[in-house]
Amino acid sequence: MNIITKSPEQTKKIAENFAKKLKGGEIIGLTGPLGSGKTVFVQGLAKGLKIKEKITSPSFVLMKFYKTNKKAVKQLIHLDAWRLNSPQDLEQLGITELLTEDNVIVIEWIEKVEKFFKNKSLIIIKFTLGQQEKTRKISIKNKKV
Ligand SMILES: Nc1ncnc2c1ncn2[C@@H]1O[C@H](COP(=O)(O)OP(=O)(O)OP(=O)(O)O)[C@@H](O)[C@H]1O
Ligand SMILES: [Mg+2]
Repeated sequence: MNIITKSPEQTKKIAENFAKKLKGGEIIGLTGPLGSGKTVFVQGLAKGLKIKEKITSPSFVLMKFYKTNKKAVKQLIHLDAWRLNSPQDLEQLGITELLTEDNVIVIEWIEKVEKFFKNKSLIIIKFTLGQQEKTRKISIKNKKV
């Protein structure tokens, strides 16, 4: 599925609608250049999952946990793989134990760590910069690693 967005607000709305379809257990990988809207998308996901806290970029802490107020999904786990060097770094962070049916995991810069999820199904969301300053293309695909 391909969607064009023309503002950060629109990107959040797209993410909010996407979040409503989540059942728990999803692993969502975000890919796209610096400033393409990955974190903005996660802010919309949080709204759709009725998370009250403010979502900030996990660039320095690597991983953040947010409690949702949606039935099937207990928490949203937000990771930024920008500073990671290999897929094994995710093992060190304890991700294996977090891959449960009541967590939704969203990872920025998924391409850096994608191999960690061998044989698992991911939802890959790709952000591409458009012609205009605020235009982005968002593509959503399922992928078996
Ligand atoms: N259509 C749009 N969708 C999302 N963000 C947009 C859009 N148009 C402009 N922006 C701006 O682009 C920036 C996106 O920043 P964001 O932190 O989400 O990027 P990112 O992909 O997470 O970058 P990084 O790789 O550094 O983590 C914000 O400043 C936002 O206001
Ligand atoms: Mg970001």
